Amino acid sequence: MKKRILVTGGTGYIGSHTVVELQNSGYEVIIIDNLSNSSADVVDNIEKVSGIRPVFEELDCLDFAGLDALFTKYKGIEAIIHFAASKAVGESVQKPLLYYRNNLVSLINLLELMPKHGVNGIVFSSSCTVYGEPDQLPVTEQAPIKPATSPYGNTKQINEEIVKDTVTSGSPINAILLRYFNPIGAHPTALLGELPNGVPQNLVPYITQTAIGIREQLSVFGHDYNTPDGTCIRDFINVVDLAKAHVIAIDRILNGKQKAKVETFNIGTGIGLSVLDLINAFEKSTGVKLNYKLTDRRVGDIEKVWANPEHANNELGWKAETSTEDTLLSAWKWQLKLRERGIQ
Ligand code: WQD
Repeated sequence: MKKRILVTGGTGYIGSHTVVELQNSGYEVIIIDNLSNSSADVVDNIEKVSGIRPVFEELDCLDFAGLDALFTKYKGIEAIIHFAASKAVGESVQKPLLYYRNNLVSLINLLELMPKHGVNGIVFSSSCTVYGEPDQLPVTEQAPIKPATSPYGNTKQINEEIVKDTVTSGSPINAILLRYFNPIGAHPTALLGELPNGVPQNLVPYITQTAIGIREQLSVFGHDYNTPDGTCIRDFINVVDLAKAHVIAIDRILNGKQKAKVETFNIGTGIGLSVLDLINAFEKSTGVKLNYKLTDRRVGDIEKVWANPEHANNELGWKAETSTEDTLLSAWKWQLKLRERGIQ
């Protein structure tokens, strides 16, 4: 009998790649998603990639009664991977209450329902944004949590506290918090990838949309930072490598391998690359010349952040494997496939 995993936000960018990796590892997956930032045809593409169609129910995690009914309908869910959240830093500044309600109440609903339905494991999608501008680099899980620079970042910090307080309150729940750095790239089949609504906020989809001609020119936000080439530095992690970390975390919880009821891991490559480094790597791997200009800083940007991934490497046995060039090539192939399918 396959173990059942609930994936919230499973038609999203990281969620869909994680569903495939869970299926490849023998899990049965149930996806819930409110489709506010993704489309149901991702379910078809997941099936094309893995050969297995996951169960999909359109459902908002804010719908407590709906969630309760879902757990009753699909008995035996062993654990949850919770991706469903609003995640645009800039939008969160414009609409803070939408972010606080969506990102906090969704998690609270799940945690409240888990014990009632015998679901004792949760893997939570957190972010390096909780570190703010780290004092020391590379950043470890012990780095201080800095005051958030956006409501989005604040919701991630509060979410982590909600999980920790719940788990240590005597609840039967066990949890793993995965702090992602900058997820990029697409599935090697080019059937799954990032599909931002409207103008991309993140760097790599903006690069690929510029390269294919949807966008006129990429603006590099800031070139006077205290970095070797003046542009910001980030830890760009391949989305499939990131997805695999979630499967290892689920295995760890279900096989009782945890050393504490709540554990936290940085999921990054450990390599800091600047925005210009990434542009050069894109041009090198694809052979496509990118039209970009150096412009002013973007308000709220961190100057430099990259992970010390040793805890995940040693404890989870997980390591980023895919090269930046191969990752950027996968993003480009995805963009070309979107054009071929008439989607973008
Ligand atoms: C990366 C760098 C920009 C666009 C955010 C969230 C994080 C996660 C990923 C959700 C920065 C520069 C960008 C552009 C540019 N979100 N840039 N021109 O801000 O590091 O992280 O998204 O999971 O939690 O904080 O990612 O891709 O927006 O920016 O120069 O058109 O690229 O200034 O230095 P960020 P990003």
